[in-house]
Amino acid sequence: MPKRNILITGGAGFIGSNFIPFFLEQHQDIFIINLDKLTYAGNLQHLEDVKNNERYKFVQGDICDVDLVKSIFIEYQISDVIHFAAESHVDNSIEGPEAFIKTNINGTFTLIEAARKHWLIEANSPKQGFEMSRFHHISTDEVYGSLGESGFFDENTPYAPNSPYSASKASSDFLVRSYFHTYGLNVVTSNCSNNYGPKQHDEKLIPTIIRKALAGEDIPIYGDGKNVRDWLYVLDHCMGIDVAFTKGKAGETYVIGGDNEHNNISIAKTICTILDQVHPKENGSYTEQITFVKDRLGHDFRYAIDAHKIKTELGWKPQFNFDAGLKKTVSWYLSKYQKS
Ligand SMILES: NC(=O)c1ccc[n+]([C@@H]2O[C@H](COP(=O)([O-])OP(=O)(O)OC[C@H]3O[C@@H](n4cnc5c(N)ncnc54)[C@H](O)[C@@H]3O)[C@@H](O)[C@H]2O)c1
Repeated sequence: MPKRNILITGGAGFIGSNFIPFFLEQHQDIFIINLDKLTYAGNLQHLEDVKNNERYKFVQGDICDVDLVKSIFIEYQISDVIHFAAESHVDNSIEGPEAFIKTNINGTFTLIEAARKHWLIEANSPKQGFEMSRFHHISTDEVYGSLGESGFFDENTPYAPNSPYSASKASSDFLVRSYFHTYGLNVVTSNCSNNYGPKQHDEKLIPTIIRKALAGEDIPIYGDGKNVRDWLYVLDHCMGIDVAFTKGKAGETYVIGGDNEHNNISIAKTICTILDQVHPKENGSYTEQITFVKDRLGHDFRYAIDAHKIKTELGWKPQFNFDAGLKKTVSWYLSKYQKS
């Protein structure tokens, strides 16, 4: 890649803060501007390793702020965008959807509109120096709705979002798609399954299981615990984003998943078993703390991904097996929660 000034949004969140150190290491000729509002979900401590890197700059701000976004494009002559920033927790979207509409839809619009104005003279006509500029939109498999016991999502699956979160992500995917078809903007979208790994916010399933277990509290599992998700180690997602960004075809979508389906109750039991080994309780097993709570409204039953396209066309495949990834994850949260 020639020298690029890449705007990363939401880089202080879970996936972004795993992605930035990885991406800086992979590409020595890039400069990253990380624009993050630092909502409750952002944590700059997760970027300690890169904060003094001369190829990295943090800017605190909102992706919905038109003037700020425009000024960043001008000041840094942004060549590309990798857009992570979002409200990301389904439960919060049920309690208060408005922030999801603002950030996920209006924020994406603000960013891609700034990119269009900065990179294009007019439709299908890039400005000199921006011929290769790319907008990579990070999205989720939740836009495809819910599967039954069988079947997989792929790039051709019709959209059927069921929560305000997934509906707002679906809307943003459509906006991004339209900028390719209408203006010829060089966009790529990736839709990934559930990520796990270090640096995820406490509110999400795996950190909650570990935190509650260690605190000796009930470990809450929705409904009957039979909801199935495909789990991918966060660094495998980062590698998928890297190949889709650097090698993906303009206008294309790539679904990314681990071929690694587990239901929530089995995730909780596996984590408790790891904890029993690495951090045993005085009496009994952590599994005894698992309790079932009232199900999430509109809870999708199953997500599963057929990642054939990114594997065959771009040569990506997951590197981490689930047991090893989960052990690394448990060990990271053990040290976090023991410090706090
Ligand atoms: N976590 C997953 O399992 C998963 C799976 C597939 C796709 N995704 C997508 O990946 C992206 C990142 O997810 P995550 O889990 O890292 O989310 P996260 O909630 O951990 O982080 C989101 C980050 O965005 C920032 N942010 C929120 N609103 C902002 C705004 N208006 N302006 C600027 N910054 C803002 C937050 O401060 C935070 O740092 C999201 O777009 C999400 O939809 C996540």
